[in-house]
Amino acid sequence: MSMNRIIPSIKIGAHVLPPVFLAPMAGITDAAFRETVSDFGYVPMITEMVTSEACVRKNPKTLRMMDFYQGESPKIVQLVGGTPERMAEAVKISADHGADILNINMGCPMKKIVHGEAGAALMRDHNLAKKILHAVVRATSLPVTLKMRLGWDTHQKNALEIARIAEEVGISLIIVHGRTRSQFYTGMADWEAVGEVKKSVRIPVIVNGDIKNTATAMAALNASCADGIMVGRAALGAPWLPCQLASFLTTEVLVEQHPLMIQQTVIRHLDRMVAFYGQERAVCISRKHMCWYSKGLEKAATFRTHVNKALSIQEIKQYVEEFMHEQQ
Ligand SMILES: Cc1cc2nc3c(=O)[nH]c(=O)nc-3n(C[C@H](O)[C@H](O)[C@H](O)COP(=O)(O)O)c2cc1C
Repeated sequence: MSMNRIIPSIKIGAHVLPPVFLAPMAGITDAAFRETVSDFGYVPMITEMVTSEACVRKNPKTLRMMDFYQGESPKIVQLVGGTPERMAEAVKISADHGADILNINMGCPMKKIVHGEAGAALMRDHNLAKKILHAVVRATSLPVTLKMRLGWDTHQKNALEIARIAEEVGISLIIVHGRTRSQFYTGMADWEAVGEVKKSVRIPVIVNGDIKNTATAMAALNASCADGIMVGRAALGAPWLPCQLASFLTTEVLVEQHPLMIQQTVIRHLDRMVAFYGQERAVCISRKHMCWYSKGLEKAATFRTHVNKALSIQEIKQYVEEFMHEQQ
C-alpha cells in the first residue's frame, strides 16, 4: 500500500515519541498488557485511569494501577477527577510514583465518573475544566496532556473551546476521541471534527476513535491532519497492532504476525499477568484476553469454553498451545 506522507515524531517536553499511542483502557492496559505491547517496538502507552480521590486516599489497588513494567518509558499516568485540589495532590503522588508525563481524562462517559463532575462531565463546565487543568499544570514540572471527546452531546460540541483553554494553561498535547459523551461508543468517530480542534491550537493533537488498521489510520490522519493516532479496542487480542501501525506510518514497512509469534505473545502475556496479579487473579483476568486473542479463529468457541473452566494458568497455557497449533 502506498501512503501520502511519513508521519514525524512528536515532542512532549524532553520526550520524542512515535506518532502512535496505545489508548488507556480501564481493566485492560495494565503493566502486563503494556509490556506485551512493548515487545513489538516503541509506542507511548498510558495507564488505566486512576481516580484522584482513590489516589489521594492511597488505595492500594489504585496505586497498583500506577505500577510500571521494568524499563517503561515514558511512564504516563492518567488521572480522572472533578476537584482541582485533589487532582493537584494526585499529580504529586503520581510524580513520586515515577510518572514522566500526566494525562487528564475528560472523556470518560461512565455514569459513576460523570456524576462526580469528572471525565466527560468537565466538558460541560468550562470554568471547572480550566481550574482543574490549571491546578494540575501548576502542581508539577512534568508535561501534562489531555484526553477528551468532542463535547457532551450534539448540542454542546465544545472541544475547540476546551482545547484553547488547555493550550492557554500549558497543556502539552491533546488527544481527541471523535465522539460526544452521549454517543458513548455508538456511531462512527468524526475525524474531521478532530481536525477542527487541530486547526484551533498549536500544540500536537492526536486523533482517536475507530482506528483498526493501516487504512483507517491513514483515513483518520488525512481527515483530521492530526499529529498522530491513538489505538484502543483494535489492540485487544492484537498487542502488536500499535507498533505495527507506528512502523507503517514512520517507515512504510508493514510487519505481519506469524501464528507461532502470536502463541509466544499469548504465553508471555499470561506469565506477566501471573507476575503482576498472582495466579488466582491472573486466571480470572486472563479470560477476557483469551477471548480477544481467539476472536475470528477456528474453534474459538471450544477454546473459550475450556479457558473459562480452567483453574490454573498452566492449564490455560496448554489450551493456548493446542488451539494455536490447530491454526497452523
Ligand atoms: C474497555 C474500555 C476501557 C476504557 N478505559 C478508558 C480509560 O481508562 N481512560 C480513557 O481515557 N479512555 C478509556 N477508554 C476509551 C479509549 O481510550 C478510547 O478513547 C476509545 O475506546 C476509542 O478508541 P478506539 O475506537 O480505538 O477503541 C476505554 C475504552 C474501552 C473500550
